[in-house]
Amino acid sequence: MVKFIIRELEAEHLPGALKLVREGYEEEKKMVPFLPAYKELEESLQIKLKALADEGKGFVALRDGEVTGFLAGYPMDQLFGSCRGVYVPLFGQGAQKENRQEIYRELYTCAAEKWVEEGKYSHALTFFAQDRETIDTWFWLGFGLRCVDAIRKTEPLEATASGLEVKKGNFADLPMLASLDQKHSRYYRNSPVFMLKSCENPLQDLKEWLKRENHHLWYALQEGTPVGYLQVEPTGETFISHHPAVMNITGAFVADKTRGRGVGLALLAQAQNWLKEEGYPLCGVDFESINIAGSKFWNRYFTPYTFSLVRRIDERVGREKENA
Ligand SMILES: CC(C)(COP(=O)(O)OP(=O)(O)OC[C@H]1O[C@@H](n2cnc3c(N)ncnc32)[C@H](O)[C@@H]1OP(=O)(O)O)[C@@H](O)C(=O)NCCC(=O)NCCS
Repeated sequence: MVKFIIRELEAEHLPGALKLVREGYEEEKKMVPFLPAYKELEESLQIKLKALADEGKGFVALRDGEVTGFLAGYPMDQLFGSCRGVYVPLFGQGAQKENRQEIYRELYTCAAEKWVEEGKYSHALTFFAQDRETIDTWFWLGFGLRCVDAIRKTEPLEATASGLEVKKGNFADLPMLASLDQKHSRYYRNSPVFMLKSCENPLQDLKEWLKRENHHLWYALQEGTPVGYLQVEPTGETFISHHPAVMNITGAFVADKTRGRGVGLALLAQAQNWLKEEGYPLCGVDFESINIAGSKFWNRYFTPYTFSLVRRIDERVGREKENA
C-alpha cells in the first residue's frame, strides 16, 4: 500500500492544490468539451482557493513532499438542517489520478475526525460529475447525491405548446407572479425533497431579485393566467457558473396542473433565444437530484458537470468524542 503523510493545508501547498483542481477540470472538460477553457478560470480560482484555505481548515496528502491530494471546506453553522457541518466546494478538493481512491479515503478519515470532534456532523462535498471513480469512492464512504450543476450550449429549442404566450417579465408583471413564486418555495417541502425555502414575502423577494444586475425572468400565460416562470442570472453555484460566457437558470416553476404540457420547455426555449441574441454561449442550471420533476426536466436538456454529495454523521458518536 502506498503511504501518504496527511498534514494541515498551508499556504505553501496551494500551488500543488491548484494543480490538482486544474487536472480534475481538464479531465471533466474531456467529457464535457464545451466547458470554458481552464486558463480563463484560473485567476479567480487562485483567489477563491486562498480565501478558502484562510477561512476553513484543510488537509493535504503529501508524498515525497508533493501534494497528491487535498480537502478543504467552509465551516457551516447549519447545513441541510439545524446541525453544524462542513461544505467542500468544487475547488476545495482534488487528488492525483494515480491512487485517487486511497488518497481521498485517507484525507476524509483525517478531516472527518477533526470535523466530528468540532461537532460538525453534516458533510457535503462537490465533485466533477463525470469522474465516476471519485463519485464511487465517496459513495462507499457513506455519501449520497443531493445537488447537480449542469450546463448546455445556448441553442434554439423547438417548443410547440399551443395557446401559450411567453413574455419577458418586468417589475409591473411581478404582482401576478407572486402566488406562483410562493407555490414554488412551498413545493420543496414536499416528499421526497423536504427542503426549507422562505416563502413569507414572495412579491418583495421577486422585486429584490429582479433589481439585481443582469437578472431576467420569463413567464408563461395561458388564457391570460400565469402558469409558469423561469429566472436567469449571471452566477450560479460553482466557479464555472461565474464565467462571463455562462448565464444561469436559478429558478423555474410551472403550476402543478399545467405540468407535462410543454410550458417548461416553452420558457426554456425563450430564454435560449434571448441568451443567443445577447451573446451568451453557455447556459447553466443547478438542481436538487432529489427533486424528481426538476431532475427529469434538466437532465433532458443539460449535461451534469458536478455532483454534490452529502453525509450525516450519527451525533451520538460525535458527542461521545466531543466529551472524551
Ligand atoms: C421542472 C418543471 C419546471 C418542468 O415544467 P413542465 O411544464 O412540466 O415541463 P414540460 O412540460 O416542458 O416537460 C415535462 C415533461 O412533459 C413532456 N411533455 C411536454 N410537452 C408535452 C405534451 N404536449 N404532451 C405530452 N407530454 C409533454 C416532456 O417531454 C417532459 O417529459 P419528461 O418528464 O419525460 O422529461 C416543472 O416540472 C416544475 O415546475 N416542477 C416543480 C418545480 C421545479 O422542479 N423546478 C425546477 C427547479 S430546479
